[in-house]
Amino acid sequence: MATIAPATLPADLSAAIVNPQAYGQWADLQDRFRWARDNMPVGLVQAEGYAPFWAITRHEDILAVSKDNARFLNAPKSVVLAPVAVQMLTHMITGGSPHLVRSLVTMDAPEHMDYRKLTQSWFMPKNLGSLEARIREIARASVDQMLATGGTCDFVHEVSALYPLHVVMQILGVPDEDEPLMLKLTQEMFGGEDPDLNRARSIDFTPEQITQFVVDAVRDFEGYFMKLAADRRAKPRDDVASVIANAMIDGAPISDRNAAGYYIIVAAAGHDTTSASTAGAMWALANDPEQFDRIKADRSLLPGLIEEAIRWTTPVQHFMRTAVEDCEIGGQKIAKDDWLMLCYVSGNYDERVFDNPERFDAARGPNRHVAFGAGVHQCLGLHLARLEMRILFDELLDRVDKVELAGTPQRASSTFVGGPKTLPIRFVAR
Ligand code: HEM
Repeated sequence: MATIAPATLPADLSAAIVNPQAYGQWADLQDRFRWARDNMPVGLVQAEGYAPFWAITRHEDILAVSKDNARFLNAPKSVVLAPVAVQMLTHMITGGSPHLVRSLVTMDAPEHMDYRKLTQSWFMPKNLGSLEARIREIARASVDQMLATGGTCDFVHEVSALYPLHVVMQILGVPDEDEPLMLKLTQEMFGGEDPDLNRARSIDFTPEQITQFVVDAVRDFEGYFMKLAADRRAKPRDDVASVIANAMIDGAPISDRNAAGYYIIVAAAGHDTTSASTAGAMWALANDPEQFDRIKADRSLLPGLIEEAIRWTTPVQHFMRTAVEDCEIGGQKIAKDDWLMLCYVSGNYDERVFDNPERFDAARGPNRHVAFGAGVHQCLGLHLARLEMRILFDELLDRVDKVELAGTPQRASSTFVGGPKTLPIRFVAR
């Protein structure tokens, strides 16, 4: 039988997919992904310094892989794109694991569900309802801070980078005074590739240096959370930190590495992502005064604004999976052990599903975006993210009459968690 040659993506496209800077140039990146969706929707990326992997760029294929949790696993290889050198270092540092942090996203069945169930009820709408009043207080304080700037500010700096952090730290149980440390460590863990966010504030880094930034951030996180866990074992409270600290699976306490990983995933996944979509929503409102007026006058349109901001921004730009057997996706043969990239940034702009995908349309419906993933790993915090964004914009629209851009926003240079890192705005308070 004739073997089908793998569909290898053109070199410039492959180079862009692995290049953090390319994600800061959003329109160009979207043009490249459009080409891939139309011509090679399951395309092999062969880029210098990286092990080959398949870029899955169509919405329907991303969903199919995400939902097939028996065939496409998270544990065998890194769940985030990393150069070979970084992967080798990670193996060395961890004594053989492809993951620096052991968390929900690096686990598969049956262990994954045991761990997910420990905290799942905390993030369900029923429980979140009881937190709404507290979240609204935090939202009001964030709007106060924005209004205190007098009419011009960087929305990311004043509001969106901090508000989701306050919310998730309240749920986790981290004291207010430690929030700046949490923000710094998360940005260093996710933003190692961006010179404005990494530890050395440098663009000239080697894979070894990037790994070192992340290793240092993880070490600091672990040190911090182990102290928090000890405190909650001694004096349990009504917070997620106490649930994790005292968690038992099959009658035994969970290991320190697993507890630390759990804290890190909730702390880190819980705010940088929502910060990005919050900034995305404000960017869209500042771009379109009519849309601003419409939503200000009719708050039933808020959920549409939130959902579209999450699609349009796509804060989590990819996750990786590993095939455990030979199979086929989108007509392309995939071999056992192949590494696959779920390109959410592409799936959310797939014209087969979204009319005019570049356009921000708060009335878009249905809005079946893949920004939260799908299948058993689908975002644990999706209800929280929607709730906190809705409350923030409800408060903000009560107190702001007009908003416009006061400069050009910039997206972060990162292949993983992205979104606006600056958003200069001018506003008129009520
Ligand atoms: C997983 C996106 C907010 C906690 C994920 C995944 C994505 C994602 C794409 C992986 C899904 C998959 O593999 O199929 C986002 C976006 C957010 C957001 C776009 C904001 C707009 C949050 C918040 C929390 C959170 C507020 C707070 C707890 C988690 C956790 C996981 C996860 C714990 C791992 C779930 C698992 O593996 O079972 N998120 N997230 N996320 N997210 Fe979020």
